Amino acid sequence: MPVYRPPRIASSEITPEDVYLNRRRFMQAAAGAAAGSIALGAAGTARAEPLTAKPSAYKVNEPMTPEKIVTSYNNFYEFGTNKADPVNNSAPFKPRPWTVVVDGLVNKPQTFDIDKMIAEFPVEERVYRMRCVEAWSMVIPWDGIPLAALLDKVEPLGSAKYVAFETIVRPEEMPGQTGLFQPMKWPYVEGLRLDEARHPLTLLAVGLYGQTLKNQNGAPIRLVVPWKYGFKGIKSIVRISLTEHQPPNSWNILQPNEYGFYANVNPEVDHPRWSQATERRLGGGGFFGGSAEQRPTLPFNGYAEEVAGLYAGMDLRKNF
Ligand code: MTE
Repeated sequence: MPVYRPPRIASSEITPEDVYLNRRRFMQAAAGAAAGSIALGAAGTARAEPLTAKPSAYKVNEPMTPEKIVTSYNNFYEFGTNKADPVNNSAPFKPRPWTVVVDGLVNKPQTFDIDKMIAEFPVEERVYRMRCVEAWSMVIPWDGIPLAALLDKVEPLGSAKYVAFETIVRPEEMPGQTGLFQPMKWPYVEGLRLDEARHPLTLLAVGLYGQTLKNQNGAPIRLVVPWKYGFKGIKSIVRISLTEHQPPNSWNILQPNEYGFYANVNPEVDHPRWSQATERRLGGGGFFGGSAEQRPTLPFNGYAEEVAGLYAGMDLRKNF
């Protein structure tokens, strides 16, 4: 992955938190019964729409990263490899209609329609610390469905040990999937161990900042695992399969010595080309900053109390 460059974002473009909170209150009042219904724009593209989410206890007490940064500084190689490519190139992408197949080692394989999922499963607001392997971090208010709730519906078999995820392949709407230079093999794939997947922190995000996901953030549904490096957060998911064996993950296929399967945030295990001991909190300069504040990286991104037990007895230098 390219070396970190701070985003250049004018202070006028950044939504201060108090403005966000007021707007959010307004949207919550306006959203009312709108949960589950998504308005379509002229091109059939889903616009970000208000989403009704229940607040949850999972809320880090740190300033949130301005929405403008969260939606314009992205990794989504299907739309290009630069941070601004996803916001600039993803407008033609159509996240509706959309279904997610959940299959493999389960009793009840099912195909879920995204809008029915949003209506039927609990959607919660979780404010999570997010840490990219490139050593920058954000704090993001996600709206999402606990992955465990979806897995319960399909009833994993006793033989299921892992969960494999797959992103859509749609070259006609994803310029990074066409042309001579393609940065990786498609589809983008990821995986979790079943106990990681069932952990209450693991979320299938369908929104952020109280609105349905924008294309550049992985519309209409993407994974969020806050104690792991950001590349585990696979976007625009079309298939979730329960498997017996450890599934492949895209960055590991590309550079196995740099990106492992576990990818737990670990300040003691450096990336071969840079330190993981510290990170830059984007927008950390307050209201007026596209600036970034340097801070120490926490084991498991600050979620050690909740998740360290999942790795008891494992050598996390080997299983990086
Ligand atoms: N998912 C897909 N399908 N394609 C990608 O290129 N990039 C990953 C992850 N999910 C990626 C992806 C990486 S490297 C990161 S850091 C996060 O998405 C970034 O998510 P964000 O842009 O919403 O912050």
